[in-house]
Amino acid sequence: MQIASSRVFLWVIKKYAALALSAIRQQGVFQGASQLAAQWSFDRRHGLSAFLPREIRHEEGEPGFRLADAVQYQGVDPVLALDVLKRLPMGLRSDATFVDYGCGKGRGLAVGILAGFRQLIGVEVSRDLAALAGQNLETLRLRHPGVHLEIQTMDATRFQPPEGPLVVFLYNPFVGLTLERVVQRLAHHATRWPVHVVYINPRGRAAFLDHGFQQRAAWPDSQALIFEAGVVSEAFQLGCLGHRLTSVSSSLLEPGQILR
Ligand SMILES: C[S@@+](CC[C@H](N)C(=O)[O-])C[C@H]1O[C@@H](n2cnc3c(N)ncnc32)[C@H](O)[C@@H]1O
Repeated sequence: MQIASSRVFLWVIKKYAALALSAIRQQGVFQGASQLAAQWSFDRRHGLSAFLPREIRHEEGEPGFRLADAVQYQGVDPVLALDVLKRLPMGLRSDATFVDYGCGKGRGLAVGILAGFRQLIGVEVSRDLAALAGQNLETLRLRHPGVHLEIQTMDATRFQPPEGPLVVFLYNPFVGLTLERVVQRLAHHATRWPVHVVYINPRGRAAFLDHGFQQRAAWPDSQALIFEAGVVSEAFQLGCLGHRLTSVSSSLLEPGQILR
């Protein structure tokens, strides 16, 4: 019993250390530490337990799942995600369905609720993570009774988005053929409805450009991008992204370009 609990303790310490090291490597000691502290405090305030990363294993796969394309679970930076989502027009936030592809433990969905979305869907291939997302979002669900939230446990390529305008949220959940198939389906959806894509850590940016999405805004160092496709009504246009960001055509925007 004692051996088992010290193993769990060591495992938790190892995971925290790996998380801290990767944050520090990417952003330096001060920024890395303050980002981790902000994530910790966000989770505490909103009743989440979403901090530790988690590997995705083959046996968790649903039909169609390609392990080689999957990115392991790590919660999104909620400060950045909220900043990006809050720049979408209010009409879009209240009318569109927010879909977090690869919702993990639900932090992206929590940010979606706080940004004012009322219809939200999380798609997650891992049963354990999907169950955790459901538990994690209980507190926010009670605090926001008008919100309709569902978690679908399946491979993202099999998810059929509901009719109507979409805001797609991606925190680099998968790459390769999986991303390609999801983007194809979104491009098809955009033949009938407006589709906006908020892409954080956008490793597969090219897939969207190849399928006719327009890149509309970028955050410093391309930490986040917004794409748009389909019949975008005036109320949903991103021209009003605010003073920090500019709406631009994709030909003007290079990765890493800072738009202020
Ligand atoms: C980087 S995490 C994103 C977490 C979450 N979106 C957030 O913002 O906190 C990537 C997630 O994508 C999930 N994932 C990877 N491949 C997937 C697939 N083919 N279908 C559905 N989910 C997938 C992983 O299980 C993991 O939870």
